[in-house]
Parts: sequence; C-alpha cells; structure tokens
Amino acid sequence: MATNNPQKLIEARRILGEGFQVLGLADICCHDDIPETSLTLQGNALLKARHVWDRYGVDCFADDTGLEVDALLGEPGVFTARYGSLYGYGVEHDPDANIRCLLCKLKEVKDRSARFRTVIALIQGGETAPYSLFEGVVEGSITSEPRGLHGFGYDPVFQPNGSRLTFAEMGAEQKNRISHRAIAMRKMMEFLRR
Ligand code: IMP
Repeated sequence: MATNNPQKLIEARRILGEGFQVLGLADICCHDDIPETSLTLQGNALLKARHVWDRYGVDCFADDTGLEVDALLGEPGVFTARYGSLYGYGVEHDPDANIRCLLCKLKEVKDRSARFRTVIALIQGGETAPYSLFEGVVEGSITSEPRGLHGFGYDPVFQPNGSRLTFAEMGAEQKNRISHRAIAMRKMMEFLRR
C-alpha cells in the first residue's frame, strides 16, 4: 500500500483480513515524499501508485480520500489533507487545524451534509502495468464539535448517516464495516480474488 500512514496500514490489514499480507512504503524502504499534485482523487491515487511501480517495480495500491461538504460546494475535496493551512490554520496535514478550519467555516450553517470519498488505484505488473480503480463513498454529516478519541483525521467530526456516533467514537471494527475506505478496499479484494 503506497502509504506511510501507520493508521491507514492498520485499517487496511484489518479490512483485507488474513488472506492478504499488506506492506507499507517503509517495508520496501521507500521514504519518498510522493507529490499529490492532481486536482482529482483518482489522479492522486494513480500518481502515488505509479510512483511506486516506476521506482520500485512492485505491484501496489494507493488510496486518496476527500471529504466533500455540500454547504461548501464540495470542499475540502481534493484539498482535504491541507484544508486548514489554505486558510491560515496551522500547517498541512495537521488534523486539529483542519477540523478547526472546517468547524469555523460551518459556524451557523444548518445543512451539514457531507461524504467521505475514497478512490483506490491498483497497479499490477506486466509490460504496461495496467491499473484499476475502486471507489467507496459514505454519506454523513459534520458535527458541531469534535467527539471521540479513535481513528484519525476528520473522524471526530464525521457522523455517518444512520449512526449516533462519529467515526472517532466507534471502535475500529464498527468503522471498518461502513467506511469509505473499507467499501473501496472490499471492491479491490473481490477483484483480486476473481
Ligand atoms: P489522504 O487520502 O491520505 O491524502 O487523506 C486526505 C485527508 O483525508 C487527510 O487529512 C486525512 O487525515 C483525511 N482522511 C482520510 N481518510 C480518513 C478517514 O477515514 N477518516 C478521517 N479522515 C480521513
């Protein structure tokens, strides 16, 4: 998996289960800071997967995730990881700053509907290294304040539809049953099994 995020690796291993052994970038001694310069989730997932294929020659998959808030016309979207820094809140990849920024933008806003969208790009060997894409979406809403201590990123402020808990209030197992990444990953798992 083209990631250095240990929490994503733990999630991926739990979701894919015992039939798969998932290695992260550190396991192949890749410490590159892979640029995510595309304006689409699909483009960034593909950039990451292709980087690993081109430089290390191993089959791999990469995910890119965006949080889409209806009242913000789909923002932060592809800028989800650096949302706070775009508006003067902390540095890129700072989850607390991202959440503060999001809650500030949604102050007084009634429609808090949002979704997490994940796109996974899978690259497998062969002369042309063809790729496949898998998408997972979970609908929900942004809470008025952070709740819960589990998970990562925006989990404390995202409450999936049909639940009274945020992702950060759920255990890993409960989140992995319904999450955007789990949906995309199960699609990839089915594809690999076939
Ligand atoms: P990336 O896919 O690692 O580039 O993540 C983009 C942004 O979305 C980062 O700020 C992550 O923290 C956030 N993010 C990705 N997946 C999740 C999730 O499952 N829950 C909460 N935040 C997430």
